[in-house]
Amino acid sequence: MEIPFAESWKIKMVEPIKKTTRAEREMYMKEAHNNIFQLRAEHVYIDLLTDSGTGAMSDRQWSAMMLGDESYAGATSFFKMKEMINKITGFEYVLPTHQGRAAENVLFSCLIREGDFVPGNSHFDTTKGHIESRKAFAVDCTIDEAQNTQLEIPFKGNVDCKKLEKFLAENSERVPFIIITITNNTAGGQPVSMKNLREVKAIAKRYHKPVLFDSARFAENSYFIKIREEGYQDKSIKEICKEMFTYADGMTMSAKKDAQVNMGGFIATNIQDWYEAAKVKTIIYEGYITYGGLNGRDMNAIAVGLDENTEFENLETRIKQVEYLAKKLDEYGIPYQRPYGGHAIFVDAGKVLSKVPKEEFPAQTLTVELYLEAGIRGCEIGYILADRDPVTRENRFGGLDLLRLAIPRRTYTNNHMDVVAAALKNVYDRRDTISRGMKIVWEAPIMRHFTVKLERL
Ligand code: F0G
Repeated sequence: MEIPFAESWKIKMVEPIKKTTRAEREMYMKEAHNNIFQLRAEHVYIDLLTDSGTGAMSDRQWSAMMLGDESYAGATSFFKMKEMINKITGFEYVLPTHQGRAAENVLFSCLIREGDFVPGNSHFDTTKGHIESRKAFAVDCTIDEAQNTQLEIPFKGNVDCKKLEKFLAENSERVPFIIITITNNTAGGQPVSMKNLREVKAIAKRYHKPVLFDSARFAENSYFIKIREEGYQDKSIKEICKEMFTYADGMTMSAKKDAQVNMGGFIATNIQDWYEAAKVKTIIYEGYITYGGLNGRDMNAIAVGLDENTEFENLETRIKQVEYLAKKLDEYGIPYQRPYGGHAIFVDAGKVLSKVPKEEFPAQTLTVELYLEAGIRGCEIGYILADRDPVTRENRFGGLDLLRLAIPRRTYTNNHMDVVAAALKNVYDRRDTISRGMKIVWEAPIMRHFTVKLERL
């Protein structure tokens, strides 16, 4: 008999979770104005809101926490983190920040001016927010295939090099840098191939533009390169990471994802001018340059987390769980962004709730339905998240409208995934009875999804 696949870890500490009744959930959701960010976490049974800072640390990470050096300047913890980043990425200069968006804030304060354009592949919302709040523009050059959720191609996060080159040919003087998000979260946790990274770097070179990686899930990207791209099967994850980063001049990092910690981030680069400028902004916004808003113990945990998560077994365990949930949804015929990505399943809400008009936010409606069904909290990555166009103030209905089920690292078992799949199947089975969605009754001018208030129609 073939020995089945199992996790590359065992559980040493547990946290109880509680079920609620449907009547309770209806009350909680009403109080939350149909916005899952407004729910109390204790009212959630299985929390797939995000994989950001929600994972379990290893015993090695916890023991490293005890050795944290809390010196204000020059702590050993900073150097442990810096040396690990140097080793994995090849970037020499490192600045800690309290999380990923803080790294964006620091670096973009130095690089982006009003009226600039920043081309890339489906900028994440904080990235877009940090571009647009500086009165600059995020230009999406993702491949068109990413819009078709049912199309199965291995690297759906790729940059469309033709779109990028055309944009640069016409607007090069207003482009401070090109940004590539690995993996491409907004398009469905989809990876970017090594070939694509190499091609973008070559184009950037021709136009004398630096390339920045938004690297939140760079290790998952390396895993997909190893298993999906020709020529990388025999390379280690660390070797693949090293090559990937040779196609970038710098990175911003949310350590809450692939560094497997609950809080943290950093900037790393080989451009000395970026580093010198960002140092000043780090001190203003984050803290001194060897802690940048982090405790010494946090930096120790990041160092170990990065090391562990650039090993194949750890990544394989994680992504096999995403695959497990994907296969369940296949069994039930529930449409999601194919193939499954690195950190989440993105259910195609437009296809599930096809009777709900897009003006009534199908993905938000599905998100609320799933919570009411079984206390599972997913997250809308769709028309609410897309915000309004900064110029016309119209809702942006051009992209995908998805319900994201993000899986925290090393946190839930496949039994929890069975519950998620069954609850979603129940909603799917009664999809034809849901014909109305939601209307917005209050929203913030930017990044509205965190605080938006909605009413059921
Ligand atoms: N870039 C990407 C690709 C992200 O997914 C995130 C965060 C950030 C940057 C910002 O990092 O949260 O540390 O400030 N994504 C989380 C998510 C919030 O749920 O996908 P942060």
